[in-house]
Amino acid sequence: MTSRSAPGAFHRVDSPANPIVKDLRALTAKKERDRTGLFLGEGLKLVRDALAAGFEVVDLIAAADSLEGPVGESAAEVKARGGRVLAVSHKVLEKLSRRDNPQTVIGVFKKRLAGAEEIGARGIWIGLERIRDPGNLGTIIRTADAAGAAGIVLIGECCDPFSLEAVRASMGSFFHVPLALAREEAFLAAARANGARLLGTHLSARRDFRQADYSPPLILLMGNERQGLTERLAAACDELLRIPMRGKADSLNLAIATGLFVYEALRQDQPL
Ligand SMILES: C[S@@+](CC[C@H](N)C(=O)[O-])C[C@H]1O[C@@H](n2cnc3c(N)ncnc32)[C@H](O)[C@@H]1O
Repeated sequence: MTSRSAPGAFHRVDSPANPIVKDLRALTAKKERDRTGLFLGEGLKLVRDALAAGFEVVDLIAAADSLEGPVGESAAEVKARGGRVLAVSHKVLEKLSRRDNPQTVIGVFKKRLAGAEEIGARGIWIGLERIRDPGNLGTIIRTADAAGAAGIVLIGECCDPFSLEAVRASMGSFFHVPLALAREEAFLAAARANGARLLGTHLSARRDFRQADYSPPLILLMGNERQGLTERLAAACDELLRIPMRGKADSLNLAIATGLFVYEALRQDQPL
């Protein structure tokens, strides 16, 4: 073991009853994430993605017996950037991640959001109206990253993008896709100001999504899992599009529909 990664160089926390553990665990609640501006994410890959994307890693929490090799290297980097490294017991990790078989590394990160001036200003953005399911959201973030979308904006009352579930489902893409939050009015004002076209996706649209023009800058608007797009947002769109369905399904899952749209844009070989 190198001296750089020696567990003794880090703050040791063995008891799940330690007040530090209580403070960290509180971050599993949205209220505490909102209050502190911090959020949790699990796994070494996630911590590495966060460091590579220039996010502030406030704490790296790692099993004391894992602080060698790659985990030790990330721990040293976190420390060098002014973060705290906690070498903890497996019981502490279990308590933090609420899983029987938790990852050996957990990060605490500082939230970062894109500003209104970025929404739809370049490339293809994805607008998610009142998305409720953190699993869907994480999957969409991952897909947007893979397709090279320029950003995602959450419109209106949405699930918390900083929840463990959404961050987990994004598989590290969370740190690579700019994310903005906006109320409906502010969203429409930003889209207008930034010159983005609005392409809405709607089950009652006539136009097949394969016939649309995806040249940027544009925002692909996706509706809520249960109710779809509000009438107001649908009316604000330059065009409404649908994915044809042959079988008896009422609709596609939101994340799947988003994937089809962004990959259609990519297939048209537009510079996303
Ligand atoms: C589960 S669907 C919503 C279903 C809802 N009952 C409705 O009437 O819109 C969630 C979102 O996925 C997108 N979506 C799903 N299937 C689609 C399709 N066949 N064509 C266009 N968009 C679709 C739309 O953005 C829709 O708002």
